[in-house]
Amino acid sequence: MNRKYRKTIIAGNWKMNKTPSETKEFMAEFKSIMPKGRWCDVALCVPAVCIPTAVRAMRETRVGIGAENCNANASGAYTGEIAANMLVDAGCKYVIIGHSERRAMGETDAEVNAKVLSALKNELSPIVCVGESLEQRELGITEDWISMQVKCALSGVPEEKIRKIVVAYEPIWAIGTGKTATPEQAEEVCEHIRTVIRKLYGAKIARAISILYGGSMNEKNAFELLAQPDIDGGLIGGASLVPEKFVKIIEAANQPTV
Ligand code: 13P
Repeated sequence: MNRKYRKTIIAGNWKMNKTPSETKEFMAEFKSIMPKGRWCDVALCVPAVCIPTAVRAMRETRVGIGAENCNANASGAYTGEIAANMLVDAGCKYVIIGHSERRAMGETDAEVNAKVLSALKNELSPIVCVGESLEQRELGITEDWISMQVKCALSGVPEEKIRKIVVAYEPIWAIGTGKTATPEQAEEVCEHIRTVIRKLYGAKIARAISILYGGSMNEKNAFELLAQPDIDGGLIGGASLVPEKFVKIIEAANQPTV
C-alpha cells in the first residue's frame, strides 16, 4: 500500500452466493462489527438481485456496493443482461469486469474493454480483473500476458477517466484454491501492472491507480500481502462471505505504510 498517493480498497466479490435474505443478515452483522475509523475504502460486489438489499442496508455507511458484471450496451434486446446505467440507478458504485470466471465462460478482451468504457461512461468504478493461468506462469509468459490484458482493457480510456479504474491482479491458480501467491509473487505482478499503466498514461497517473490482489486472500495472509508497496488492497472471494473474516481483512489494511 502507499496511502500517500492512492486509495487502499478492500473489496468483496460474493460470486454466486447469498440470497437477498442472507444479504440482509450479513449486512446487519457486518455493520455491527465494522471498524469505525476511515482506514480504507470498502466495497462489496454482490449478485444482481442482492443489490437493492445491500444498498439499503449500507446507505448510512462508507461501504460502496458493486455488481459483478455489466453489459456493454446501453439498452436493447439482450435478454437477461444488465446495463451499467441500471446498476448506477440501483445505487452501485463499482462493477467487477473481466473476472477470470467470466472470461472462462467466453468473455473476450474486446468485450472486457467495451464493458469498461460503458461503466466509465456511467461514472461507475470498474474493478478490472487480470491474471495468468498456472500454465502461463510455468511457461514464463505472465508479464506479457498481463500487459496484453491490461492494454486491451484500457484501450480507448481517456486520461480524465482513468483515475476511476481499479485493477485487480488475480492469478487464476490462486482463486478458490487456498494457494495464495506469495507476497513477492503478487508484488512483482502488481508492480508490473503499474509499469504498464505508466507507459500508457505517465508516472503521475500510474502512481494514483489502486491495484488490488485477489486469490485466496484471507484474514491470515492479508497483512503481509497489503504490506507490499504496489498492492493497494484486495479483491476477496470466500473470506468476504463471513463478516468477521472480512472485517479482519479491513483491519489488516490499517497498518503503517511507507
Ligand atoms: P477467493 O478469495 O475465494 O480465492 O476468490 C478470489 C476472487 O476470485 C475474487 O474475485
